[in-house]
Amino acid sequence: MATRDIITIGHPTLRKKARKVTEFGPALRQLIDDMIETLRAAPGVGLAAPQVNISQRVVVVELPADKEEGTPAELYAFVNPEIVKTCREVEEGEEGCLSVPGYVGEVSRPTMAIIRGQDGYGKPQKVRAYDYLARIFQHEIDHLNGVLFIDRVTDPAKIRKITPEEAETATGEVAEALVLMEGEAVLMA
Ligand code: NI
Repeated sequence: MATRDIITIGHPTLRKKARKVTEFGPALRQLIDDMIETLRAAPGVGLAAPQVNISQRVVVVELPADKEEGTPAELYAFVNPEIVKTCREVEEGEEGCLSVPGYVGEVSRPTMAIIRGQDGYGKPQKVRAYDYLARIFQHEIDHLNGVLFIDRVTDPAKIRKITPEEAETATGEVAEALVLMEGEAVLMA
C-alpha cells in the first residue's frame, strides 16, 4: 500500500465525470488499498478516486468508531456506486472536502440513502446509510460526477473558512477527522 497525492480545486480531473470500472483486476484492488491508506493519512472520512487523479468510479468511506454510542469504525469500498434510493427528509450539515482545503459549508442532503455497487472483485454489494454515513456517500458519489460540496451550498453565507483551532484538530487522529463544533461535525471527505 502507498499513499497517493490528493489533488485540490482547480485541477481538471475533479470536474470530470469519472469512468465506470469494467476491469476487476489487481490494479483496481491496489487503487482501493492506496485510497484507504491515503484517506487514513489525510485524515478523512471519505475519498473518491478522482481526488487522487484517477478518473474512475471508486469511493472509500470510513466512519470512525463512536465511543459514546459504542459503535465500531465502519469501512466501505465501493466500485461503480449508485444511489438507488433516498428518503424525503433532508438535513443541513456542515461539510468539508480534502480537495477544498480550509473551507466548510452547509449542505442539505437526504438523511437516508441506499447505495448499490460492487466490491474490488466485481461482487455486487449494497448499503443502507443513514445520517453522517449517508452524507459521506452522497458527497463521494458527487465527486464521481465532477460535483464538489461548494456547488451544493445554496447561500454563499453558508460557506466559511475553518478556524486555526479546527485545522489543528483536523490534522490529528483519524477519529479527529470529525471536527466537533457546537455539537455538529465537520466532515473532511
Ligand atoms: Ni470531498
